Amino acid sequence: MVQAYSREPGTGGPLSDIRPEGVRKIRLWAFCIALGGFLFGYDTGVVSGALLYIKSDFDLSSFEQSSVVSVLLIGAMIGAVSAGRMADRLGRRKTLAAEGLVFIGGTAILVFAPGYGALLIGRVVLGVAVGAASATVPVYLSEVSPTELRGRFLTLNQLMITTGILIAYLVNLAFSDGGQWRAMFAVGAVPALLMVAGTVWLLPESPQWLVLKGQVDKARAVVESVSGEARATRVVEQAVRRREDEKRGAGQKENWRVLLAPRVRPALIVGLTLAAAQQFGGINTIIYYAPTLIQKTGLSASNSIFYSVAIGAINLIMTVVAIRLVDRMGRRPLLLISLTGMLAMLVLLGFSYVVDLGSVLSLLFMVIYIASFAVGLGPVFWVLIGELFQPSARAAGSAASTAVNWASNFVVSLAFLPLADVIGQGETFWIFAAVVAFTLWFVGRYVPETRDREFDEVDTALQARFGRSPQAGPAPG
Ligand code: BGC
Repeated sequence: MVQAYSREPGTGGPLSDIRPEGVRKIRLWAFCIALGGFLFGYDTGVVSGALLYIKSDFDLSSFEQSSVVSVLLIGAMIGAVSAGRMADRLGRRKTLAAEGLVFIGGTAILVFAPGYGALLIGRVVLGVAVGAASATVPVYLSEVSPTELRGRFLTLNQLMITTGILIAYLVNLAFSDGGQWRAMFAVGAVPALLMVAGTVWLLPESPQWLVLKGQVDKARAVVESVSGEARATRVVEQAVRRREDEKRGAGQKENWRVLLAPRVRPALIVGLTLAAAQQFGGINTIIYYAPTLIQKTGLSASNSIFYSVAIGAINLIMTVVAIRLVDRMGRRPLLLISLTGMLAMLVLLGFSYVVDLGSVLSLLFMVIYIASFAVGLGPVFWVLIGELFQPSARAAGSAASTAVNWASNFVVSLAFLPLADVIGQGETFWIFAAVVAFTLWFVGRYVPETRDREFDEVDTALQARFGRSPQAGPAPG
């Protein structure tokens, strides 16, 4: 309910129109939804440790090892692409529940995998769930959040992703003694079960989606369960009006086609560019290959798991900082600070390898780079894809952006080590630096502030940044 719990002039302080127990309820909903983010982090993080033991159990070649890691990314692209349509047809709630079941299925295949083939299948299935959930979670979170807390709740997604990564590293550490890789995967079933149970028993359908489907009374009942009756009526009327506007404008087209409407284009350009930039800035070369990189600076391999836990912890801590700041400072300042920090660190990291500044400095630059990502580009990308698209284009827009994010992740993860071999490690970091410099310019020029803004206001600001007057196209959605 981005717009649903909207601010009304003169209603007093933030959230004054939502009952305290209502706020608690929305928090619980947000937590259940964001379990999808946790699974995203856990299932992408767990494989680094599990692989060490799988490779000896099944005698895997290095190609087979990297395929076990990267097929998840292919599955994720497929999942992300399918999720938009499903979330529009079945609703956000059923889609999330179905994704939880796919998580459980993929995990079961991995836990009982008799050989390499089954491992690949399990990883693809898990990938489908990861990709689909990563597209659904921002949309659903955005639609159940009051405007004043929307940034916070959307950032919760990234917090859960980073928590998932860190917990995966710790689980790896705990089960590394006996090399129990099946147990490492099995732990992922617990949050998946919780997510399914939470979705079935706790979560309401998104009021935005209900209004889009003409189920106005049900939408009103959901809003009323956290706020007063008069408020719910006003809120639903606003959503109905918007649906009518969308029908007249871009929103009458089905699913993907809605993304081609001129009115939606600015949001799509920002969503897709940030999706690619988030990955081509190099984040997962550190998240996935930290131990290898650290070893290259001259530190011992035996410490590598320890260092990856440290990196995971910094990632998490700085995401908490972002949560505190995102609704106070706004999205743009966080993005600009984050990108500036990343740029400086990538340039320095490049030097540290090219002129060999020593392992301590390289490690320091890496840590500050991760911290800079975590305070801005990491969470704010996921925040914006929940906020920028008009309601009827939201699921499709989020799915398209998420799919591009996974495709870019796949390309960077696959190309990173070979590229570093050919042009050099430091030089590769400078390529990432160039991408980040471009992103800095792009954000300065095209990304509007969305903090405290209803969708209509966001849309006006977005159209203005692209040189279109708000009256230029059909009425905004
Ligand atoms: C990115 C992931 C990355 C993670 C690291 C997310 O925002 O989309 O690819 O692994 O941040 O924290």
